[in-house]
Amino acid sequence: MNTARMIIVSLILGLFGQLYAYAGQPLKLEAKEGFYQFPFFETKTPVWSYNDQIPGPLIHGKVGTTLVIDFVNGLKEPSSIHWHGLRIENAMDGVPGVTQDPVEPGENFIYRLKLEDAGTFWYHPHFNSSEQLERGLKGVFIVEEAERQPWSRDLIWLMDDWLLQKDGKIYPQFNTGRDLMHDGRWGNVPTINGQFRPEFTVKPGERIRLRLINGANARIFSPHIEGLSADVIAVDGRPVTQIFPFDGFVLSPGNRIDLDIRIPENAGGEIFAVEDRFTRKAFQLASLKVDRSEPVDSPKFSPATEENFIPAQMFEKVKVEKIWDLNAIRGGKFGIGWTMNQKLWPDADKVDVPLGVPRKIIFKNSSSRLHPMHIHGVFFRVLERNEMESIEKFTRDTVLVGPRESVTIGFVPEHPGIWLTHCHIQEHAEAGMMTTIEVKN
Ligand code: C2O
Ligand code: CU
Repeated sequence: MNTARMIIVSLILGLFGQLYAYAGQPLKLEAKEGFYQFPFFETKTPVWSYNDQIPGPLIHGKVGTTLVIDFVNGLKEPSSIHWHGLRIENAMDGVPGVTQDPVEPGENFIYRLKLEDAGTFWYHPHFNSSEQLERGLKGVFIVEEAERQPWSRDLIWLMDDWLLQKDGKIYPQFNTGRDLMHDGRWGNVPTINGQFRPEFTVKPGERIRLRLINGANARIFSPHIEGLSADVIAVDGRPVTQIFPFDGFVLSPGNRIDLDIRIPENAGGEIFAVEDRFTRKAFQLASLKVDRSEPVDSPKFSPATEENFIPAQMFEKVKVEKIWDLNAIRGGKFGIGWTMNQKLWPDADKVDVPLGVPRKIIFKNSSSRLHPMHIHGVFFRVLERNEMESIEKFTRDTVLVGPRESVTIGFVPEHPGIWLTHCHIQEHAEAGMMTTIEVKN
């Protein structure tokens, strides 16, 4: 076991809680049943969590190192862990039936993750996912850059929503007809790091890296920070091609963005509300409270950008490898199935691509629902929407395909293996909306 290369593994409890550094030994993540106290109920809510924490432990690693994670399944059903967005060895990707066997109750699986890319990632199960994620199994995975930039503060917000009953319990029916006919299971309690409307205290003058991660089963967030300007510096873990103002960015399940936020020096005593504006009725997610301390010196530096990472020009002469038509049918294990080219996973219309050659794919949504399509193990660039040029200033691993919309993406397969490709609305994926891209050496 190559634990010598493991430099930083740390766990943070709570929002500003204690920091535990584990050096030279694998980090253990145990999925198990437990309880979590929401503020609205007298009794605790039964949840499933990693290491009894909601959200799961924050994992920190440094780019270029290898983390060893011992996953122990303390649930009563099989599970696995998928490292969303990380480009790692295919055998470590955590997809039962594709890259590994399901981890049975009482068993464990050692994940060895060589961290190739710095940025904001997350982890979650890939078995019975619509239920396992919803019951609380998820956490953030930060890969630190080789050289750290001098942010005043690094804030990490895992956005989620829970569907809770009046008695405080998680609504126990999963993959309902209603969820499947619509955009999956949307909750009634939005949380940031498991907290309802938390307030974060910052100082005047600070320059903050705010990382937003949408870990919900199905809810789409479009966060807005009233009164503060912010720039988007990274999307889905990768620095953007060109920094742009944060204004109405839509985060679908799976997406992450990193923001550069400057707190004005004269903002002492102010409270800035962060609200979601995706749905017609805006609601508060969190707030940033500026304390009345002396303004701190705002660090001066330019966040990194990546002009040359998967540039759009490299796809100019590339033909489309596959068009995946996204639609619903009657059938499948829940009575309503979500298909890619009329097929339901595991009977899927798959694709094979050679290593290292630029490829184009079209996701064509023939339905009137939302489909955030995610590909494991690659970053891709959006090139066209509805066959009109629409080049994004960043790359992604998850793209929202709206009703009747088609999205053309370009990518370069750089890691051999079988990579799952699916809708990140967990209920749609469980109802069949999954396939694979096999990268052959
Ligand atoms: Cu977060 Cu298969 O994905
Ligand atoms: Cu979908």
